[in-house]
This record gives sequence, structure tokens and C-alpha cells, in this order.
Amino acid sequence: MSRKSIPSFEELEEPLGWSDPKKYYYLLAGLFLRTAGRLSDGIDLGFRYGFDSGMIMNYIYENVPHGKSFVGRALDEAFLGQTTCKAFRAVKRIQIEAISAFIDEREGRETFIVDLASGKADYIYDVLRHAGPNVKVLLRDISEKTLAESRETALSLGLRDRVGFEVGDALDVESLRRIPYRPNLAIEAGLYGIIHDDELVRRHLSDLREIVGPEALLFNVQTYNEQIELIARALVNQDGEPCVWHLRDKDLVIGWAEEAGFRDPVVKMDPYGIYAVVLMRN
Ligand SMILES: C[S@@+](CC[C@H](N)C(=O)[O-])C[C@H]1O[C@@H](n2cnc3c(N)ncnc32)[C@H](O)[C@@H]1O
Repeated sequence: MSRKSIPSFEELEEPLGWSDPKKYYYLLAGLFLRTAGRLSDGIDLGFRYGFDSGMIMNYIYENVPHGKSFVGRALDEAFLGQTTCKAFRAVKRIQIEAISAFIDEREGRETFIVDLASGKADYIYDVLRHAGPNVKVLLRDISEKTLAESRETALSLGLRDRVGFEVGDALDVESLRRIPYRPNLAIEAGLYGIIHDDELVRRHLSDLREIVGPEALLFNVQTYNEQIELIARALVNQDGEPCVWHLRDKDLVIGWAEEAGFRDPVVKMDPYGIYAVVLMRN
């Protein structure tokens, strides 16, 4: 597949000049999405909570178009049909397979999974529905709202006794120290792409191994995305700022994880070539 060249992270962080025609294209696209676009429930949710939030991820996973009038529904269908949204759903399936295979490997032994930026953790519930009672999960996120909604899901599925919730910052060592005991598996999905500073991701991987010490780590890396400039220039993140995502070579992040002491990476790419899902052992 031929790949078009896309702006670097540093370029995406800079506003476009007034003489650049792309500036007007993205201004118009942003204006359209922030006005008429909000007839689509998905686009509206993205502008309310951020296109990098756990709230929007779950909406994309559910993949059921909703909107105000038939126009809103049609816009929502178009939104959910974007390649980036399709890739999110494909990554979810890959993660479910990886987590389920990890649980199978444990042959019924007690298994403790911690997800450090869980969002609503749709993929975890899909796994838990089929896993035995020996599998317990702790969901952590900085967003209280996302965790509160996830708690509702756990209740409705009768899984409340197997899932714990805790507001926590994955990048804060004191917060990591509060994880009660060593997990068999730690999950970090959709996190590194929203951390801009390479050094922060690198240091975090060392802290994670040293402080939390999971037996295995599952993470994903956004490696390439032709829609990255539209996302950065027309959409907003959880803080209401431009939604600039940091694409990275999967080998760079795997290298940092290896430096931290993780080993034996198993990599699976989504069919759109956007995300690498990586499982490593400790
Ligand atoms: C793109 S969503 C991914 C959610 C979920 N893991 C998934 O893949 O569907 C990113 C999540 O990371 C959370 N987040 C961002 N920074 C965080 C941090 N420093 N510590 C913990 N969670 C964080 C956000 O609140 C959001 O729920």
C-alpha cells in the first residue's frame, strides 16, 4: 500500500500560515463540524468530551449511528465510517483476542488485570463476559465521568464484584504506587498517542515496570494516520485544545519498553495500518 507523506508531530503543533490554502480548508472543516456536524451524536460527543476521551471511544466501538433528524444520523454514519473509527474498532477486536489469549494461558489461575487509562473499557467487558470468576480487573483513568459510566456497565452486566475503579494518573509515580498488588497484565491502550513528550513515555515505561511490575504489558501505538492533520486542525481534545496525536514508529516504543526491561514483543497491526497492538513480557 502506498503511503502519503503526512506532517510531523512538530508541524501539527504549529498553526498554518495565512498564505497556506490548507489553513482555509481546515478552518472550514472545523467550522462545519462544530456547527452542522453536531447534529451527529458522535461528533457532538467528541466536541463535548474530547475526541481523545474514553466517552468517544465507546461511542465509536458501539457503532450505532444516532443524530438529530435524518441529516444528523447520516452525518453520524459518515463519522463512524471514517478509517480512523474503523481502525479503533479493529484494534478493540485485536485487544480482546490478546487479553483472552493471556487469560487462557493462565489456565484458570487467579488473574489480576489493571488498565491504566481504561476509558469505559468496553474491550474489558467483552473479555469478562466469557472469562471465569478468577479474573479480576482494576480500571483506572484520570476521568471520573468515564469511570462512573463504566461502573454502570459493570453493574448492568452483573460484574461489579470483579471490577474495581480508581481515578489515577498513569504518569504519576505516587498514583502508580497505590495499585494494591502486582498485576498479571497491565493494559495501556490509546494512551501514548496523547502524550506529546517522548521522554515522558519512556520514563513512564520504566516507572511502570519498577513500581507496578506487571508480568505482561499490552499497549498500542498509533503509527500512521492519513487523517491526522484533519484531527489535529479541526477537532479538540479533552482540554478543548487541538487534538494533536503523536504518531510513533512501533519499534521506537518497543525499544523504550525493552530498555525498561520488558521483552519478547508480539505485534499485531490493524488492517488499516494505523495501530500496532503490542504484548510484551516482564
Ligand atoms: C483514547 S482514550 C482510550 C480509552 C481506552 N483505553 C480505549 O482504548 O478505548 C484515552 C484515555 O486515557 C485517559 N487518560 C489520559 N491521560 C491519562 C493519564 N495521565 N492517566 C490515566 N488516564 C489518562 C483519558 O481520560 C481517556 O479515557
